[in-house]
Amino acid sequence: MTDTTLDFVPAAVRALMTHSHSGRTFAVTSPATGQVFAHAADCAADEAHAAADLAAATFVTWRSTTAFERAAILRRWFNLMLEHVQPIARLMSLEMGKPITEAVGEVRYAAGFIEWFAEEAKRVYGETVPGHLPNKRLFVIKQPVGPVFAVTPWNFPAAMVTRKAAPALAAGCTFILKPAEQSPLTAYYLAYLWQQAGGPAGAFQVLTAQDPVPVAQTLMQDERIRKITFTGSTEVGKLLYAQSAATMKRISLELGGHAPFLIFEDADIDLAVQEVLLSKFRNAGQTCVCANRIYVHTSLQDEFARRLAEAVQTLRLGDPLDENTRVGPLIDLQGLHKVQAHVADAIAGGAKVLVGGQVAQGLFFQPTVIVGIKPTMRVMTEETFGPVAPLLSFETEAEAIRLANETPYGLAAYLYTNDLNRAIRVAEALDYGIIGLNDGLPSTPQVPFGGFKNSGIGREGGKWGLEEYLEVKYISLALH
Ligand code: SIN
Repeated sequence: MTDTTLDFVPAAVRALMTHSHSGRTFAVTSPATGQVFAHAADCAADEAHAAADLAAATFVTWRSTTAFERAAILRRWFNLMLEHVQPIARLMSLEMGKPITEAVGEVRYAAGFIEWFAEEAKRVYGETVPGHLPNKRLFVIKQPVGPVFAVTPWNFPAAMVTRKAAPALAAGCTFILKPAEQSPLTAYYLAYLWQQAGGPAGAFQVLTAQDPVPVAQTLMQDERIRKITFTGSTEVGKLLYAQSAATMKRISLELGGHAPFLIFEDADIDLAVQEVLLSKFRNAGQTCVCANRIYVHTSLQDEFARRLAEAVQTLRLGDPLDENTRVGPLIDLQGLHKVQAHVADAIAGGAKVLVGGQVAQGLFFQPTVIVGIKPTMRVMTEETFGPVAPLLSFETEAEAIRLANETPYGLAAYLYTNDLNRAIRVAEALDYGIIGLNDGLPSTPQVPFGGFKNSGIGREGGKWGLEEYLEVKYISLALH
């Protein structure tokens, strides 16, 4: 039986979790047990107004700290996160069902963004540009864009927060975060550690809400909020993109994906199977970058399917707090119903389930491999966001590229080949922001993360991630 008490969370974090002006809270349910195990503050428009006031006031002082001061606070925040890896991971695992070993990995990944941007804070260089007249001196400097509103998803309750917050804070911006209502608690732990590290409370604020609309509308309409950053569905991203026009906010969008995984005839099948497992079944297939369509060269098709099915059969589905669990539950009924509907649609269209294909219990869906997929099936046209691996085949390299690019999305794509020339050729031809070349898990803090086409705008991570929070200012000096 899962232990769902929150005694392992510091009392100060628990106090932050439920604090709202009205005193209203909403229930947080464990997807593994279906039990309510905690409550979160139910914030509304008045909290959003107050947060914007505080973010604007704090921006005046935070922006004028030196990069070295900000870097020191970020570095302390990073160290504190590492000291609190276990309780943060446990909280995350409880609220969204991520297997505990993956949750520990996510906390380290999340802390990695803080470490990276603590260092990058000191590297916001300006430039001088040659003048067009003898008395002109031209300078370009970079300044923080201003208070930021961030909306983060439930699938990575720590890493998607720090991937946005760390560069914003490093640049000198203040930050208001609205985490997802399904997994609202981890963000409060991060806010607590930020304050423990010496960060001003007004620089990093969390607003949780059962109904996110009043909070989001208030902040989207506020002229003082100069940037919106969102990770989530393409549908909501497009709405925010349109709304941001009224106040001309800068925007970063990290949206849906529909990642192809191409396995060429020269691939090492065992290694390819391992990389597909990493990509497809991480977080029970609930990532924007997970392989959604696995295309295998016809010469390997049957052998690959057999070995993948064997490997998938060994993935242990179960209690996320058990260290041996490899695949946890889906986030909620809506998520489960979508996965069920995709599998049922494929079967109705003539596809064959090699392994899995059923609900195990509650929100747990068996890790699944399906063959006989047709391009019109829902698994091929929508993001499944579940532990389902559809297998297809191709004959030629050109066909593989065409099939991979035949989607409105362009976040991540994967290929497995031992032919160096092909590797470069195909990687260059894929219309995607992230390419995993013989690598099912390319994410890491120091690289750009983001997509082409309907997968979003802008990049997070690495030096590119910092630029998203900086304005460019040109200063012309005339000598007299
Ligand atoms: C996501 O699924 O949105 C993030 C995955 C990652 O950072 O690797």
